[in-house]
Amino acid sequence: MANFKQLETAIQQITNNEGLTVAERLENICELLQTSVNHYDWVGFYFHHEEKPELHLKAFAGEPTDHTVIPFGKGICGQVAESNANFVVPDVQAQDNYIACSINVKSEIVVPLFVDGKNIGQIDIDSNTIDAFDKKDEQFLELVNRMVSGILG
Ligand code: SME
Repeated sequence: MANFKQLETAIQQITNNEGLTVAERLENICELLQTSVNHYDWVGFYFHHEEKPELHLKAFAGEPTDHTVIPFGKGICGQVAESNANFVVPDVQAQDNYIACSINVKSEIVVPLFVDGKNIGQIDIDSNTIDAFDKKDEQFLELVNRMVSGILG
């Protein structure tokens, strides 16, 4: 089991690293989470397009996905763009409005990212384990997003 407290410190160090671009820092955070937490098999940050109601993938770690642009309302990610609320999916096969990125994925969590109270993107994590995510993941990922929001906007 990953130590979320240690990861919090490591993520703070990445966000504070002004020698890296924001995109590089986001990539490093994805890489860190995907390699450190057993049940995090794919980790990505999507951001809202400035004009169009679309999410665009800005950084990820794990298998490349075809779904680099997702319209609002479509899939778990698109629903979170409109609901502004966390979405934990214990079993992706039980979801009607779901976009499959890999046949190996069994569960998913999407947590919105706010800057000045505005939902501007999200962290999306896929797991190859069924029912992999609980309240601790939600709280940790909310914290990750709060740290990331400090280097955006
Ligand atoms: N499963 C997501 C699509 C993004 S992939 O997981 C990388 C969804 O239903 O929105």
